[in-house]
Amino acid sequence: MKGVLICGGTGSRLKPLTEVTNKSLLPVYDKPLLLYPLQVLFDAGIKEIAVVTGNDHMEQIASFLGSGKRFDCSFTFAVQEKPEGIAQALGLAGEFANGESVCAILGDNIFFDDLSPAIRGFQKGGHIFLKEVPDPQRFGVAQVRGETVVALEEKPKEPKSNLAQTGCYLFDHRCFEVIRSLKPSARGELEITDVSRWYMEQGELSATTLSDEWLDAGTFESLFRAAQLVRERRRS
Ligand code: DAU
Repeated sequence: MKGVLICGGTGSRLKPLTEVTNKSLLPVYDKPLLLYPLQVLFDAGIKEIAVVTGNDHMEQIASFLGSGKRFDCSFTFAVQEKPEGIAQALGLAGEFANGESVCAILGDNIFFDDLSPAIRGFQKGGHIFLKEVPDPQRFGVAQVRGETVVALEEKPKEPKSNLAQTGCYLFDHRCFEVIRSLKPSARGELEITDVSRWYMEQGELSATTLSDEWLDAGTFESLFRAAQLVRERRRS
């Protein structure tokens, strides 16, 4: 399995912090944000990782990450010319994946659960990680029956559950074909939720519900909370 770290986008909700800096390089206590999702890939033994970001930030991100030697992995970098969706960003890693499955993870997501058993055990289809949240309308929202996902909606106004789809996705190689067939959503993006939904429609999308904290550090509040939580855990 190969890894894809997705950290393009404009970080508009975090301006002026993101005026010149990529969101995923912002500090979360003692480390840049992107090292937290990267650690999820490292913990699962993934050594080949594609990093996708926009033109403006590629230099900073590549300069921070380097070849991967210091993390005992190898990085391949891909530029997303315009932020036209998370699925489009993932699609740029198609050649890199070269027929293997991928673990795609968003550069602003911090997980406190250990995802590695699910990642290491993944074989075929799609697998997502869900978390109960108080404000599901901010996220992709799933309904499940046992471990099978039966409904998925991106940022619904009236969510049918409080299970948010977190930013870690396990897909087999078919995801790249699916992405090529996607049409932009009403907000003009190729939605990662549409990729997950394709697997759901084949009856091949399973999910793990997380029990520990999870944060999408894309707002001032969640970025601040992330730093607090990391600090608390580090001290306990
Ligand atoms: O964090 C989980 C949520 O992430 C999911 O519940 C949603 O289903 C999913 O759509 C996504 O929602 P967000 O509104 O949080 O996505 P955001 O635009 O903040 O982008 C998440 C990351 O992906 C961020 O680090 C930037 C990167 N990105 C985003 C876009 C739109 C790209 O690299 N390229 C893009 O074109």
